[in-house]
Amino acid sequence: MQVSLNKQRFIDSMKKQSKIGGTNGGGLHRLALSDADKQVRDWFLKSMKNACLEVRIDKFGNMFGRREGTDSTADPVLIGSHLDSQPNGGIYDGALGIVAALEFIRTLNDKNIKTNRPIEIVNWTNEEGSRFQPTMQGSGIWAGKLNISEELRKEDENGKILEEELERIGYKGEEPVRPSENYHAAIELHIEQGPQLENNGKSIGIVTGIVGLSWGAVTFDGEAEHTGTTPMENRKDALVAAADLITAIRRLPGSLGSHTVGSVGSINIEPNSINTIPKKVTATWGIRDPNDEIVTQGRTRVIEEAEAAAKREGVQVEWEDRARSSSIRFADRTVQAVEQAVEELGYDAQTIYSGAVHDAANMANVCDTGMIFAVSEDGKSHTEKEYTSWDDCYKAANTLANSSLYLANN
Ligand code: HGY
Ligand code: MN
Ligand code: MN
Repeated sequence: MQVSLNKQRFIDSMKKQSKIGGTNGGGLHRLALSDADKQVRDWFLKSMKNACLEVRIDKFGNMFGRREGTDSTADPVLIGSHLDSQPNGGIYDGALGIVAALEFIRTLNDKNIKTNRPIEIVNWTNEEGSRFQPTMQGSGIWAGKLNISEELRKEDENGKILEEELERIGYKGEEPVRPSENYHAAIELHIEQGPQLENNGKSIGIVTGIVGLSWGAVTFDGEAEHTGTTPMENRKDALVAAADLITAIRRLPGSLGSHTVGSVGSINIEPNSINTIPKKVTATWGIRDPNDEIVTQGRTRVIEEAEAAAKREGVQVEWEDRARSSSIRFADRTVQAVEQAVEELGYDAQTIYSGAVHDAANMANVCDTGMIFAVSEDGKSHTEKEYTSWDDCYKAANTLANSSLYLANN
């Protein structure tokens, strides 16, 4: 059996969600547990109810919608992604997978298609890990990788406590944060966020696995003094030590694996004044590689470089881990379900390994999981310039629908 989604309704829903937390530059500012996240959750909740889904929200705000199958004893198929965005992100990252899942349910309803298995769609809380770390937080607790009481206590850079924000937006649900039953399979549609599909002239990626990742924060502590009167040889400049670390991390991947990537993404400087020597500087870093051993080596090297930089500048240094996710390979069964859908639909596709991490990495901890990528123009993402044509979005959504339909009937 094959389905084709209602293209216009799918595009309308993509446009609707893109206005919630939309920026003037055509992107999204919809940080986890912000007012904009509340508004888009309200929209998603209403849309799930209108699609006759039975809705439940767990204690970490993960939002599930369930459609019964003909065999109520059968393990369900789970389709999920996220609605939170980067500070200045694009309108496709996460949202494409959610809107495609919603449109799949609407199409099943329109055509009165009954699947054997129940189907559940889910919006995971805080996939991005930008406002609160780690990334993939909601699905990580659900998959048993993170501890909910620890995660509820996390604070953002303004000292806002996660649990209070979750209550403030009204999405601290009642359900326990764990699989409510065994799942038959899980699947996630996402944009590639890289250049491979476009370089190879493909519109769909059949994702075979996801890289491993380590995130951390390093804090250098020097002396705040007058930038005009303090002799250069007496300075303890925390920002100079941080600058050394940032360039060291830029060079690190060359000495690790051929697929290793690394960067510092955010930096906080105190007192942050043009004529005071920076006293306290915190830099957050990330290292990724398909090979977990290399990720672990990378973390060790970051700490060594931080200590060497601190010694050169005569400042104190401490560090903390912010996230750790192991690399995964998806199950043959779910990769084949995607391959089969792509074949039947006649789309241009290739297999691909994901350099971005996704909630699918956590869903794969609970059941066989698959992922589909939509091509990203110029490979751009986490920027307002993120772009995928509606045609390519629609093809990817159809691929999600047909692979999910296959899994729900087998
Ligand atoms: O960081 C990531 O890979 C994801 O986009 N949050
Ligand atoms: Mn994402
Ligand atoms: Mn992202």
